[in-house]
Amino acid sequence: MPRRKVSVIGAGNVGATTAQRIAEAGLADVVLVDIIEGLPQGKGLDLAEAAPVVGHDARIVGSNGYEETANSDIVVVTSGLARQPGMSRDDLLAKNAGIVRSVVRDAARRSPDAVLIVVTNPLDAMCHVAKDASGFPRERVIGMAGILDSARFRTFIAWELGVSVEDTHAFVLGGHGDTMVPLPRYSTVAGIPITELLPTERIEALVQRTRDGGAEIVALLKSGSAYYAPAAAVAEMVDAILHDRGRVLPCAAYLQGEYGVDGLFVGVPCVLGEGGLQRVLEIRLSGEEAVAFRKSADAVRELVDKLQAMPVV
Ligand SMILES: NC(=O)c1ccc[n+]([C@@H]2O[C@H](COP(=O)([O-])OP(=O)(O)OC[C@H]3O[C@@H](n4cnc5c(N)ncnc54)[C@H](O)[C@@H]3O)[C@@H](O)[C@H]2O)c1
Repeated sequence: MPRRKVSVIGAGNVGATTAQRIAEAGLADVVLVDIIEGLPQGKGLDLAEAAPVVGHDARIVGSNGYEETANSDIVVVTSGLARQPGMSRDDLLAKNAGIVRSVVRDAARRSPDAVLIVVTNPLDAMCHVAKDASGFPRERVIGMAGILDSARFRTFIAWELGVSVEDTHAFVLGGHGDTMVPLPRYSTVAGIPITELLPTERIEALVQRTRDGGAEIVALLKSGSAYYAPAAAVAEMVDAILHDRGRVLPCAAYLQGEYGVDGLFVGVPCVLGEGGLQRVLEIRLSGEEAVAFRKSADAVRELVDKLQAMPVV
């Protein structure tokens, strides 16, 4: 089997940690790219020098250019500015759109068959930028958000009930952030819906903590935002795609009529395998859930419209 290659654009906290997870799990060779001179090379070398101790044979290189990224199987886009305390995801819109547009153009030209995994915030809007800039079909442009949001929800549920995170599953729909839609009736512990195990007010408190999960970490760190859990989520997507696992994972996908939404990236359950997005799973939403989902999709639409009205940088 030929060696697989994943390029990670942005060698900051999320990018470098993603590179580490991919290499250490033996998923693929990694090319780390950043605009800052020496940063991707230094982190790449450091990661490569950990290989003998950790025990993997992944090749890791860092670069300020895109030559080395040629023929990547997957390109992960983490380049951009991270949220600072008090800064909303929307504030990042214009700056990160310019960055994502330029890096995706450069990377897509050299890896025309790659699957793009978008991480940069505001996530759903950046997925649109990546899709436009690459010209890739929807199967090959996927946003990472739902795995992180549901991992946070899973963590809080497991803590609340004193059970293993392994037996705890959570279901989160909608856009990344304030309008995400956690679905408690599909969130389970060993198959038991949490609505059977916890009173409504406790579930609501866990849902709210999940919604604020990103901001909670930003407030603690003071500078920068979460990266260990986001990197783990990206690595799970990479594994699903490279190993054609058919994993069902909540991701931002470009909807074409599913859930009554057309031409918009929104978080939904996706089947990920060879080639990227293989299918969107549709479930029937209750009245209240459908309203929350529509509200979430409207928030994404508003951001995308704002983006389209902005001058191209
Ligand atoms: N989708 C999610 O759930 C999720 C989770 C965590 C972080 N994020 C987002 O991911 C992004 C990265 O977060 P981080 O913590 O790694 O930030 P970071 O500041 O640590 O790293 C970002 C890196 O991007 C680089 N960069 C900027 N412009 C570039 C360009 N034109 N070409 C190449 N590299 C460039 C910077 O030099 C920096 O090293 C942010 O937008 C953040 O909000 C999203």
